[in-house]
Amino acid sequence: MDFYITKDYEELSVAAANFLAGQITLKPNSVLGLPTGGTPLGMYKNIVAMYQKGHIDFEKIVTFNLDEYLGLNPQHPQSYSYYMATNLFDHVNIDRNNIFIPDGKTQNPIETCKDFDRTMAKFGSIDLMILGIGANGHIGFNEPGETLQVNTHVGDLSPETIDANSRFFTDKEEVPQKAITMGLGPIMKAKRVLLLASGSSKASAIKDAFNGKITTGLPASLLQLHCNLTVILDQEAATLL
Ligand code: PGA
Repeated sequence: MDFYITKDYEELSVAAANFLAGQITLKPNSVLGLPTGGTPLGMYKNIVAMYQKGHIDFEKIVTFNLDEYLGLNPQHPQSYSYYMATNLFDHVNIDRNNIFIPDGKTQNPIETCKDFDRTMAKFGSIDLMILGIGANGHIGFNEPGETLQVNTHVGDLSPETIDANSRFFTDKEEVPQKAITMGLGPIMKAKRVLLLASGSSKASAIKDAFNGKITTGLPASLLQLHCNLTVILDQEAATLL
């Protein structure tokens, strides 16, 4: 496990973008696992700038998003499809056929989850999985619980996650209560994992995730078992370490 502590969110975003750019440069046909949320916004902004300067090429890149809200169509401004289009995919030369995001509007969520796993399996393991972390220690929408799932599944958002994500919606009632999320399988099998955390609201989850104990009550704690994990934190997220 490698930990890097940056001065602030801007520095974290540059460091994360450089890490991702390094992966794309060294392996132009990388399979990436990508997060959404507030934390990676700065990374995507920097990576788009690097692309525009001609430093990186997405032509052969394949992406799998970690999750999508169940019930939101891809055009919904709070859907993760829309987030990815507006923050990354519309600005780079990625092949649309190489973008995989669970379909939030599926009529058959179980089949959609199986299909997502089958497609991931065709590409082998993910080369670089980038993750945020919830204040409750979730990764993707793998929420704290008695058990965690290996494969892609429909998960219930915890009350803390609904609260946290309500900042993106006009009304808390609008936050979907369920999401399709990758399970822990592809995360733990990824060749490299990059975890990003910014702000004091993440400090306690970061402290508990890396205290030497593993618990399904704090899904990110499983990352301690990953053989190639890099953690980039800003100072506020690192205060309790
Ligand atoms: P955030 O979400 O980046 O918006 O804080 C992270 C997460 O919930 O995984």
